[in-house]
Amino acid sequence: MYTAGHSIRVGVLGTAMARELGLTPEEVRLVRLGGLLHDIGKVQVPAALLEKPESLTHEEYCRVMAHTTFGARILAPLRTRYPTILGIVRWHHERVDGRGLPDGLEGDAIPLGARIVAVADAFDAMTTARPYRRLAFSPAEALLELERGAGTQFDTRCVRALQVGWSAAFAMIGEAGSASGTGQVGRLAAFVAPRAPVRSTPVGRLVPQSN
Ligand SMILES: [Fe+2]
Repeated sequence: MYTAGHSIRVGVLGTAMARELGLTPEEVRLVRLGGLLHDIGKVQVPAALLEKPESLTHEEYCRVMAHTTFGARILAPLRTRYPTILGIVRWHHERVDGRGLPDGLEGDAIPLGARIVAVADAFDAMTTARPYRRLAFSPAEALLELERGAGTQFDTRCVRALQVGWSAAFAMIGEAGSASGTGQVGRLAAFVAPRAPVRSTPVGRLVPQSN
């Protein structure tokens, strides 16, 4: 249940960031779909591990992190048509310093969509209470944490994009999450609907070169 809500929030946050980075409406759509699907591989990870309140052993951590390659395998039939989405699913736990998983890609070798979703993912994880961390960070605290990781764990431009774009997305997520009426869902849909990019500066490759 957490994964479902988390995926929707990451999709919306990724949408706001992709727009802020000046991506085209089609690229924004691919980032949103990648955000929605980024953790699909967790269906092959035991729920007991995902919900474990205590620290994970090294072996357990490796099993949880294998959701990246599991996910890429599940979506392999989409590889030719949607390489961007496959790239986001496989590489959203890479780090720009090359110390991430599963392939240790470095800097711009990590597809831009995966760098965007990595930041949105971390922000949502930090601002949501979990069994192993009962007190969630405030958005301001989470943004500060992301800033500390900019240039090592996270792409600095993506952190900036979240700093600018998070509040509109976060307000929309909060309203949709607390309301049962279709009006709020409609507003959420309007938020993620295609629109013209706000900038035209290229910020990196969206499509991965290999998988
Ligand atoms: Fe993940």
